[in-house]
Amino acid sequence: MMALPHRLTLTQYLIQQRRRFPGASGNFNALMLDVALACKSIARTVAFGELAQASSAAANELGGAINVQGEAQKPLDVISNEVFTTFNDWSGQCAGLASEEMDDPYQIPAGNKRGKYLLVFDPLDGSSNIDVNVSVGSIFSVLRAPDEVVASGRDVTEADFLQPGSRQVAAGYALYGPTTMLVLTVGSGVVGFTLDPNLGEFMLTHPNIQVPTQTHEFAINASNSRFWEAPIKRYVDECLAGKTGPRGKDFNMRWIASMVAEAHRILMRGGVFMYPRDTKDPSKPGRLRLLYEANPIGFIIEQAGGRASTGRQPVLGVTPSSLHQRIGLVFGSKCEVERIERYHAEPAKSEQVSPLFAERSLFRD
Ligand code: F6P
Repeated sequence: MMALPHRLTLTQYLIQQRRRFPGASGNFNALMLDVALACKSIARTVAFGELAQASSAAANELGGAINVQGEAQKPLDVISNEVFTTFNDWSGQCAGLASEEMDDPYQIPAGNKRGKYLLVFDPLDGSSNIDVNVSVGSIFSVLRAPDEVVASGRDVTEADFLQPGSRQVAAGYALYGPTTMLVLTVGSGVVGFTLDPNLGEFMLTHPNIQVPTQTHEFAINASNSRFWEAPIKRYVDECLAGKTGPRGKDFNMRWIASMVAEAHRILMRGGVFMYPRDTKDPSKPGRLRLLYEANPIGFIIEQAGGRASTGRQPVLGVTPSSLHQRIGLVFGSKCEVERIERYHAEPAKSEQVSPLFAERSLFRD
């Protein structure tokens, strides 16, 4: 009889990790299990699609669809936000939460224990894909609450969350695709779990995820090309030129418009993702959000040996200025991201002065 492969469950994996830190209280593991439970719940809701009468299209059309009990149904991103807050405000691990769906930080309700972590999340990223049955996901980032917040147990403020991504304790995402997966980093590599629908357990299926270094795939919303800055134009033009251009090889392009799915593809088979700063709307320095999109994905990608950048600096080095700050983001296979950074650092071709006319040239005294 063929032996089944022994796979760790998420709980077993977390216990194994905790053994490496004998002083650890177990609070972090409890938080991860709460987050995983929220993701399992969202996976179930998403899987019912139109049957749940909660698609965002239906809700928008009807100003909130009505379910069989005659109650108003909410769009899935709102439901997912409630799932995240409900599963994470009770067990005493968090000092406060913040989400794409809430303008201000969420306070742990009076009467519930408060803990030492800050949980920041995008409960349903890529939600415009829900109505077309394309993969979506949840993204989360864990920070430590400032000592003084933990000691006083006071309400959290926006300022408590404004920590650079390099201070993340953990980050992850759940991908609701053909299978539901949970991908996680606690700062020592990246691991991936697949939800076993029979057991309702996340099983460790990808024990050491590494972004492949070589790639011939890039992802960008090309409809924005007229708004791109010169370094991005140059990079994409060179990819499009393929074998006949300076890269000397053909590239393939992908755009799912669901960053979690895009990040997952890059973790599995390499590539580069760009949602760079552009000139489309000068009031928006990029499309994606720093705290709950760019930072967690950046942390995962870097832990998997890739690179994440604004194009000008490592994204994890940026000190946030507001909870919902947007930023330009480029991530994926290290050499490609470094090349894009190099293009940003080099003076634009038009600004380059021919060596003959430069400072110490033949034509200067
Ligand atoms: O809000 C983020 C998001 O949905 C990402 O998941 C995705 O990469 C991006 O927006 C898609 O943007 P666009 O609609 O411009 O292609």
